Order: sequence, then C-alpha cells, then structure tokens
Amino acid sequence: MSDVTTPPAVLRLDAVSKSFGSNRAVRGVSLSIQPGQVIGLIGENGAGKSTLLKILSGNYRHDEGTIAVNGREVQFRGPADALRAGIGVVHQEQSLFTNLTIAENIEVNTPIGRGGVNRLGLYNWRRLYADAAQALDLIGSHLNPKTRVSDLSFVDRQMVEIARAIRVSAASHTTPLVILDEPTAILERTETAILEREISKLRDIGSVIFVSHRLDEVMRICDRVVVMRDGELIADRSVDDVTEEELFRLMVGRETHAAVRNRRSIEPATKPVISIQDLTRAGSYTDVSIDAYPGRVLAILGTSGSGREAVARAIFGAEGFDSGSVSIAGYSGRPSIKKAVALGVGYVPAERKTEGMVGEMPADQNITLTHPGSAAIGPFELPRRRLSLARLWFEKLDIRPREPEHMLQDFSGGNQQKVVLAKWLNSSDLKALVLDHPLRGLDPGAAETVNAQIRSVCDDGTAIILIPDTIDEALDIADDIVVMRDGRISGVFDLGHDNPATLDLLERML
Ligand SMILES: Nc1ncnc2c1ncn2[C@@H]1O[C@H](COP(=O)(O)OP(=O)(O)OP(=O)(O)O)[C@@H](O)[C@H]1O
Ligand SMILES: [Mg+2]
Repeated sequence: MSDVTTPPAVLRLDAVSKSFGSNRAVRGVSLSIQPGQVIGLIGENGAGKSTLLKILSGNYRHDEGTIAVNGREVQFRGPADALRAGIGVVHQEQSLFTNLTIAENIEVNTPIGRGGVNRLGLYNWRRLYADAAQALDLIGSHLNPKTRVSDLSFVDRQMVEIARAIRVSAASHTTPLVILDEPTAILERTETAILEREISKLRDIGSVIFVSHRLDEVMRICDRVVVMRDGELIADRSVDDVTEEELFRLMVGRETHAAVRNRRSIEPATKPVISIQDLTRAGSYTDVSIDAYPGRVLAILGTSGSGREAVARAIFGAEGFDSGSVSIAGYSGRPSIKKAVALGVGYVPAERKTEGMVGEMPADQNITLTHPGSAAIGPFELPRRRLSLARLWFEKLDIRPREPEHMLQDFSGGNQQKVVLAKWLNSSDLKALVLDHPLRGLDPGAAETVNAQIRSVCDDGTAIILIPDTIDEALDIADDIVVMRDGRISGVFDLGHDNPATLDLLERML
C-alpha cells in the first residue's frame, strides 16, 4: 500500500458520542477529512449537526470516542484548545460584536498570546489592523479592517466570521479546518454566490466542513457529502456519486412529496384585508401598491436591495414611511406595532434570535406568548391548557423532540424556528400574517410540513404576505406574486391565470 505517502487526516473522529440527559444527540460518529477537502454535512433539523460541530469547537465535551488532529489525539477542554489546533468555527448564530471594528472582532479571540495587545494590555493598533488585513486577504476579501461591523451587510459579516475562524490557525502554523454551520441560511441567493466562491478558495489553504439545508448548493460547493440522521452518520458520498433526490431520501427517510400544487382558481374575495397605496420611504422604496386578500398567499420577490423587507415592516408598523397609505381591515393610517396586532396582523421576523423568541423560557410558554388568551381565563393562566395547546402544535409542525416544557434554547436551530412560527399560527383571529423568510434554517422535509400549515391557516381565511427565500418557494405556495426591484414594483402575477417562468421572475428581480 502507498499509505506512507498519504498525509495524516486533518481531522479524524472515531465513534464519537454525546448525550443531553437521555437524548443521544450524537451517536458513534466516525469521519476523516483530508487536507484541501470541502465536506458538506447535511441532515434533518435536530439530526445532531450543530452538536457535532460544537464538540469539534471545544464548546461541548464528548462522552465517548476519540478525536485526532493531524494524526495526534486531542482532548479539547474549551474553545481555545480547538482554536490552537487550527479549528475555526462559524456558528449557526452570528457572534460578532457589532459595535466593534472588523479588526477587533478578528483579533479578539486570538489565543496566541499577544495578538494585537502589548504587555500592558493595550492595543497595538497598527499590528491589529495589519494582522486583520492579512487574514481578510487570505480569503480574498478587501474589507477595510477599521470598518465598524454594524455598518456591514450580512455577507460581509459572514466573511469577517470566516476570517476570524482562519486567523488563529494561520497564526499557529497549522492547516486550518474551517467549520461553517449554515453560513448561507441568512443570505440571499446573490450573496450566496459570493460566499460560495470564497469557500472554494479555502481549499488552497485548508479544509472545510460546511452545513447547509440547500442541497443544490451542497452539490456545487462540496467534494464529499456526509449525512446525519438521529445522531448517526448514515452516509458518506462523493458528490459525483449522488443526486439531490438521493440526498433528500437519505436525510428524511422518505420521498419528497413536493408534488405539483393544485392551483385553486378561486376568485379573490371582494375586499383586501391589507391594502397599501403608493407607499414611499426615501432611499428604500417608491410608489408601492399591494393588495392582500383573505385566503390567499401573496409572495413578494426581490433581492436584498429591493426594499421588500422594509415594505413588510411598514405593514406591521415596525418601520415608518414618508408618503402613501396603509389600510388594514378598515383602519387607515400609520399603524404602530400595537395597533397592527390589535387589528389582527401577525409578523414573523427574519431576525428570530433577537426579535422572535425567548430562549430562556420553555417552548410552550413561547407559543402562547402572543395570544395568552388561548391558555388563560382572564388573568389566570392555565398551564395544562397551555401545555396541551403546545402539544398540538408540536404535532402539527413535527417539532422535535416532543418536549414542550423544555427551554427553547435547548432545541436545534430549525426546531426553534418552528416554535416561533407556531407562536403566530396559534391564533384563531388572525386577519393577516406577514412571514419574513419562514423556511430559513428548515430542512427540506420540514419546509414541506411548515408550508402545509401555512396553507391551512390561509385556507381558514387569513391573508398571508410572504417574503420567501427563493423563487421556487413562491411558485410552490403563492396565489399572487409581486416582484420588486430597486424599491419599485417590477411585476405582478396572479398564479390562478398567469404562469410566469422562473427566468422571467428572475429578470424582473435583477
Ligand atoms: N444544549 C442542549 N441541551 C439539550 N438538548 C440539546 C442541546 N443542544 C441540542 N440538543 C438536542 O440535541 C439534538 C441535536 O441538536 P442539534 O442542534 O445538533 O441539531 P442540528 O442537526 O444542528 O439541527 P438544525 O438543522 O435544526 O440546526 C436535538 O434533539 C436537540 O434538541
Ligand atoms: Mg444546527
């Protein structure tokens, strides 16, 4: 055998396991990664991906098994140990300090000792900026290290996270292993293309583990795909030997039922629930008019500069506008958030970590938070009713594990997402529901389940205004599509009559 010439694996896992109480989140995972390889890690929500990565980043200790880096067995006592071994992780939630500069963020975790800090504990700014610039340069980014992170776009923030992840290993002269936990979930497709290119560049300096629920993206970026299910690693394939359909089946354990939808050619109810006329906000959107009808899903397509998110926020009263009008169920004026809720409008924000959930509260309480009435008589809470209501939604949305009394922060990213959605879907008197990227972070099977529930709430007479991740998502579920470009409406389609091609929609977006 020519094994003598094969370099040791950058990373090798043997039968690694980790439990939370009786929940075996990671079970006997074995895996090895060669230098220059980009590995895709996929699996359903709750399959154990983030837990495995948190073991590799030193955030969790594994219960069983061994981990070797560059041929040597390691025992990480904390994140600093993993960094020193050359493992840099970009976690599922962005973790930058937005009030600090790029350079400060990149250098802050550098455990190499001094980094940009001198013996008196003071910053050596020149050195700090130079080191940060070098790290950015390594990944081909030309961001100015002095820029404050709060001024950056999502994609640039992600680049800073990656630079920070490789900075340490570069400094410690090891081959870096960069681990990215769903880095593209929050990105628009156009931004994703940039990140994809940067990830391919990482091949030249180290290896990458990349988690994503977008199977097409995994097929494009990665050399190998490993699939986790219920904590186990159940498949390890070269991308050349596998198809997207096969990956779906391996992840979810069934065929996709994303059948062609039965388009209902119902005529719109005579009166819209929400009607906005010539809405304008300087620098954001101009003369936008949209009508949303009960029992119909209206999707707004557009890139990140289109202004569609800002329009959605204006409807919910979360952001002002300069001119034009918003009317909701007969009320006309400038709604505050409180007013919008009172009128029966719900809003699921895209920034769920900061706006949508309370991590240190049990899941069932999160679900009844917006509409406590459903689990109370007057001021008296009814914990048992709350729990049974939560159980119902755990079934409907297939939230796992079925433990509504657990703290929300202990659920996997995708299951937290479902709880936040349940919070809004759990209302009997919703007139309209604005959903900003509802499928973000959901695995493809979970996305189907959630879409079915959105559809059912809509069929009960709620108007849905949807900001989807993709054109396909809009075509899947919407009755009406409005396309926005540079703050203006560039296309309106009634899918009961029109049959726009994906390319046509895309052209109106770009
Ligand atoms: N801190 C924790 N305490 C208790 N249980 C946890 C904790 N973190 C994760 N779990 C459980 O471990 C299992 C695996 O979760 P993990 O976050 O690894 O999933 P995932 O594959 O990353 O899912 P997603 O795609 O939704 O992010 C889940 O059942 C989850 O509820
Ligand atoms: Mg996760």
